[in-house]
Amino acid sequence: GHAVDFLRALPKAFENRVPPQCEHHIHIEGSLEPAMLFKLVEKHGVTLDPAMYSTIEALEERYRNFANLDDFLAYFNKAMDVLIDESDFAALSYAYLERVAGDGLKHAEIFFDPQAHTGRGIALDVVVNGLKKGLKKGQTAFGITSELIMCFVKHLPVSSALDAVREMQPFVESGDVIGLGADSSEVNNPPSKFAEIYSLARELSFPNLTMHSGEEGPADWVRQTVFDLGVNRVDHGFHAADDLELLDELARRDTFLTLCPLSNVRLQVTPEGVHQSPIPLLLGKGVKFSINSDDPAYFGGYILDNYVAVQAAFGFDKATWRRICQNGIDGSWCSAERKQELF
Ligand code: ADE
Ligand code: ZN
Repeated sequence: GHAVDFLRALPKAFENRVPPQCEHHIHIEGSLEPAMLFKLVEKHGVTLDPAMYSTIEALEERYRNFANLDDFLAYFNKAMDVLIDESDFAALSYAYLERVAGDGLKHAEIFFDPQAHTGRGIALDVVVNGLKKGLKKGQTAFGITSELIMCFVKHLPVSSALDAVREMQPFVESGDVIGLGADSSEVNNPPSKFAEIYSLARELSFPNLTMHSGEEGPADWVRQTVFDLGVNRVDHGFHAADDLELLDELARRDTFLTLCPLSNVRLQVTPEGVHQSPIPLLLGKGVKFSINSDDPAYFGGYILDNYVAVQAAFGFDKATWRRICQNGIDGSWCSAERKQELF
């Protein structure tokens, strides 16, 4: 109705700072739409568990009913089995850029999980070169700049993550991959467990470091991420909001949180809705953040849907949106020249 039309029109009101400009928290495997999934099932003749995958409609319904992060991850990790050759990875990254071009996006920093692919026999070259091909084609078609960030997965042994980081070094040297993150299951996985992996990434000169932290885990784990591991971008960081002193410290350090409001609703972090997000508290405390989609094919929305949901929940004024956009540009891992263009 009226409210939706109003909110959809709102982004056009920001002169040359039209949100959303930047996305910093998108798992490319999480942009695998059910339609593409079923298409690739046919292409490769692979068999998926029929209890999980019957029809597109049933799958979409299941995606509306995740109990928690691990319940989602079971689907996220299974669907990837259809990504096999370079053209699959290229089609996936291109489809994401094509979709968000319609939302007005200008710059994307994109996660991928190398272990999830190499662990089922897909060569790392196939993954990275495929993703890069799709992103280059998308940049030419839509003018969206993008970067790749590898994530190690917290559910596998630290030794596996160390191998994955070492194996990525040539792609870091070539500039194809610009950083290290960490994702997957947070329960029973405190950040301190992964200190050695971040040390190795520093030794190997990974230019940028981030970590999923405080999505389901407590504020103290965000503390560990920032204070003990020295990581100054935190993906989600949601539960930092439970500790007001920590928020003051994050503001002082310019720690950047990549929030994912619709993801939080689907994964029962904010089961009642986006209005339970701590965004107003973060603004009040001066903690910098961006708004992101996380896994748009699973959580009911791409980047602009997330912006619209935040506006529907909080009704921010133009000055607040301008500040959010400015912080998002400042917090991006792109060149100073590109930031100038985004302003
Ligand atoms: N992998 C993909 N999406 C994720 C999320 N929101 N948290 C942890 N791991 C993920
Ligand atoms: Zn994520």
